[in-house]
Amino acid sequence: MRADRNKPYPEILHPGDVIVRVTRSCICGSDLHLYHGLVPDTRVGMTFGHEFTGEVVEAGSAVQKLKVGDNILVPFNVACGMCPFCKQELYGNCHESNSQATAVGGIFGYSHTAGGYDGGQAEYVRVPYADVGPLIIPDWMHPDDAVLLTDVVPTGYQAAEMGGIKPGDTVVVFGAGPIGIMAAKCAWLFGAGRVIVIDQLEYRLEFARNYAQCEAYNFRSLEDPVLFLKKTTGYFGADVCIDAVGCEAAGSALQTITGRKTLMQAGSATALQWAINSVKKGGIVSIVGVYGPTINMVPMGNVVNKGLTIRANQASVKRLLPRLVEHIREGRIDPKALITHRVPLEEVADAYHIFSRKLDNCIKPILIPPSARA
Ligand SMILES: NC(=O)c1ccc[n+]([C@@H]2O[C@H](COP(=O)([O-])OP(=O)(O)OC[C@H]3O[C@@H](n4cnc5c(N)ncnc54)[C@H](O)[C@@H]3O)[C@@H](O)[C@H]2O)c1
Ligand SMILES: [Zn+2]
Ligand SMILES: [Zn+2]
Repeated sequence: MRADRNKPYPEILHPGDVIVRVTRSCICGSDLHLYHGLVPDTRVGMTFGHEFTGEVVEAGSAVQKLKVGDNILVPFNVACGMCPFCKQELYGNCHESNSQATAVGGIFGYSHTAGGYDGGQAEYVRVPYADVGPLIIPDWMHPDDAVLLTDVVPTGYQAAEMGGIKPGDTVVVFGAGPIGIMAAKCAWLFGAGRVIVIDQLEYRLEFARNYAQCEAYNFRSLEDPVLFLKKTTGYFGADVCIDAVGCEAAGSALQTITGRKTLMQAGSATALQWAINSVKKGGIVSIVGVYGPTINMVPMGNVVNKGLTIRANQASVKRLLPRLVEHIREGRIDPKALITHRVPLEEVADAYHIFSRKLDNCIKPILIPPSARA
């Protein structure tokens, strides 16, 4: 990871593109999967970054909704808005923006597996389909809230939404990173009666307790997290379990060796396994943690025999933006509170190091390019 001053400026490649001067970009847990070499076809020289805001500095001839000078937030999904999947508001599964793939659509700065788009951890970035995804940032909105609307808020919200939470439900969230914390916060909006977060980092558990008013437990101090969750739910299991960890989960030597060290599976599925095993019969497992394109070891027999529903996806950011803007305006969600580190873009390598190693009580780092610091 390095800041490369020789990279050429992006250019308009299609009349529907805009060029954006970046004002803020975040580093995400998803970027760590790239950084740790778990995403196939991550090429040297590509610019990472799928969470960014900026000012439009150039607009293609076909762009209608944006003009030069607009301040926009850009959903992490690259979506055409026209294909059958976009028409169903499955903006994370666009059929056009990543046409070589059969699963995920295009994602900014997320390897050639996700379309090979350069991302926004940069001074300038090309945004295709500019009339589809980007939203002009309302005047009243804090710029730090805007940048978290590009991924963290919609992903956390969709994690809760996919859980089909009913009033009074007990919801367990695995992972107290920005996504898990936001999922816990949003679980209450759907009427949860009890929200439990599981992680291994005390500072994050403490943050989750304060920010999301939830219970939070360290799986390192539990002999068996699944048994603990069974016990605390009267041996029924949770109504809803959310996997907000994904392919770099800790907690099982077997999963770690096969998934993270030898890459015999698409990352370790420890959190997903715990989610499946600690949800009640007939319950719902909602997965937003990212896994690779091949296979994972999950207890499929338990899924079948418990009659579970599994729901999963990349967040459909554009679909959720209108209601999330309202939640922020009404003060029900305060996204910017998650930002713990503001790092000059030139120091991007240090920011990755801090976030990856979970140093300095880091929850969410944002990168500020020089022109936005003036
Ligand atoms: N589906 C989407 O649209 C989408 C969007 C953004 C992020 N993600 C994914 O969500 C996941 C979380 O992202 P993040 O930014 O919060 O990452 P993060 O790395 O900051 O947080 C992950 C957390 O999981 C914890 N953890 C590790 N093993 C665990 C286990 N077995 N049980 C419980 N917790 C465990 C870690 O200690 C860490 O705090 C990542 O996989 C990321 O790729 C998905
Ligand atoms: Zn992200
Ligand atoms: Zn599409």
